[in-house]
Amino acid sequence: MSFFKKLFSSPKKEIEIEPINMSAVALDMHSHLIPGIDDGAKDMEDAIHLIEQLVGFGYRYIITTPHIYRELYPNTAKIILEGRDHVREELKKRNISVQFDAAAEYFLDEHFMDLLKANEILTWGGNHVLYELSFDSEPYYFKTATFQMQLAGYQPVLAHPERYLYWHDKFSNYESVVEKDILLQLNINSLSGQYGPMVKKMSEKLIDAGLISFLGTDTHHMGHVHLWNTVSKNPHLKKLVESGNLKNPGLVNH
Ligand SMILES: [Fe+2]
Repeated sequence: MSFFKKLFSSPKKEIEIEPINMSAVALDMHSHLIPGIDDGAKDMEDAIHLIEQLVGFGYRYIITTPHIYRELYPNTAKIILEGRDHVREELKKRNISVQFDAAAEYFLDEHFMDLLKANEILTWGGNHVLYELSFDSEPYYFKTATFQMQLAGYQPVLAHPERYLYWHDKFSNYESVVEKDILLQLNINSLSGQYGPMVKKMSEKLIDAGLISFLGTDTHHMGHVHLWNTVSKNPHLKKLVESGNLKNPGLVNH
């Protein structure tokens, strides 16, 4: 092969981007870092180790969100806030510089509706409430429940909408949720393909459509941290971080 032929037939190189530093996002508002109360950090050592990793990515404010899901993780605000205080003490002892707070990831069920009526909801960034839906099907009272949250003065933030496969066949499902003033939170690791190619594709589509308001790590264990090496060079993550759409940084000093 001649020199020129070789030159022009060389395969196109994929554009490589520098790993993204999360200091621009600054705040992670979805993780499971209170030891031993859900499927996240197992003990204090584990929790501290995971927090150190997040600080290493550039986060300086962590709002951890243990599950409140009566059937599996019957946590209460008291359990979560006491756990938060223990973690804070340990961070202080070890001189780890990060703002550490806690709220919850509420599973939308009747128990959540009872807590809502009793006004016993953990919020973050003022009036934000993180909640998740069943992965099987849209709960029949999703819209009513959300409207009741809004009437009570809360700002609903829906966790990982890209993972609700029952919405995938109609993109307008997402548009109508956003039109109802529900803010969408994407899991960073959805872009890695961890939850499958469909979830990855939907994540990219939601970013392209400008529908994502919050980015969360949803860190439970080191497996999630290791995925960071792949996802930190993801062009869609870069696009989202640079879009100006993310509300994470605006809540740092809230
Ligand atoms: Fe979560």
